[in-house]
Amino acid sequence: MSTPPPIAMLAELTHRCPLACPYCSNPTELLSREDELDTDTWVRVFGEAADMGVLQLHLSGGEPASRSDIVDLMQGAHDAGLYTNLITSGIGLTPRRLDALEAAGMDHIQLSLQGTNADLADWIGGYQGGFDRKMQVAAAIRERGIPLTLNAVMHRHNLDDLDRTIEMAVELGARRLEVACVQFHGWAADNRSQLLPTREQTEAAKRIVAEAEARLRGTLAFDFVPPDYYADYPKACMGGWGSAGLNVTPDGTVLPCHAAQTIPHLRFQSVRDHPLSEIWYKSDAFNAYRGTDWLPDTCQSCERKEIDFGGCRCQALAIAGDAGATDPVCSKSPDHGRVLDLLRAAAEPEAPMQWRQPARTPA
Ligand code: SF4
Ligand code: FES
Repeated sequence: MSTPPPIAMLAELTHRCPLACPYCSNPTELLSREDELDTDTWVRVFGEAADMGVLQLHLSGGEPASRSDIVDLMQGAHDAGLYTNLITSGIGLTPRRLDALEAAGMDHIQLSLQGTNADLADWIGGYQGGFDRKMQVAAAIRERGIPLTLNAVMHRHNLDDLDRTIEMAVELGARRLEVACVQFHGWAADNRSQLLPTREQTEAAKRIVAEAEARLRGTLAFDFVPPDYYADYPKACMGGWGSAGLNVTPDGTVLPCHAAQTIPHLRFQSVRDHPLSEIWYKSDAFNAYRGTDWLPDTCQSCERKEIDFGGCRCQALAIAGDAGATDPVCSKSPDHGRVLDLLRAAAEPEAPMQWRQPARTPA
């Protein structure tokens, strides 16, 4: 079967970030400023992405506003014809910068929410005063009428605030709310037992989202990502490996997903050395888990194999020790017992929460 082009590209412009969330999906070995692609290279990559059929560009990090050239990057992406979404904590977005980004063609902002009040949000984000600044940025976004999605990353410590989170999304003028339960990659993997919501919280969240979706139809749209540890079947991670989207890391390495670099036998290529389309269509790493031919026996005989493509490769590696295994979240997986063990361990967490640490500066 021929491979379609990607629809979306996530450009992780930098790993630098003023916040230190313990669930950050960046790798635990962060890249430093010296490793980052320069403006011209990013703009070239945006052009290559548009030429191969990418429609949406998510400008992310770390905190993308930590790049002093963020307005030039936005302009380059807009000129390439891409729909641009800035994924941000809001820290560093002054009204002047917002105006410049709008003038440069920014189409949409996705603002993260760490908590519904300063105490909780600043504790989770590890940044005093962050909540108040975020609220100021949210007001400035609303004043300008920039389309806004609120991205509420949910876990054990804030899922009970879901009702208030939904109210805030309406008050802030968001058109969409992502209720995104933490996925256990990157820093979150080390904090799993602290962050995993309880089954009761998860069931309550499902009811609250369903009720709010019906009540707020036409005002607020919802994306709900429940914790898959309580599900019977896994999600189709990234819509299927190498099928709909790609990530470019701050140094130009091209990945099929956030956590792909944890898979030790795969070698990932860089936009510094290869055209983006060559990496997408021809690289061994992107072809490793494409489609369904590679699926293990458990999945080959399953009617859901075209729905979830065996789940998440990185989760299979992290929990089962084999990136080519059925995602252990699946109730049919021979490794499913390991997920049940993790749930038992999370009921009585022993390790304290670890916040994200800054990148080590090169010697
Ligand atoms: Fe999906 Fe494989 Fe589980 Fe079937 S057995 S539901 S294809 S992960
Ligand atoms: Fe890598 Fe799911 S995060 S496949």
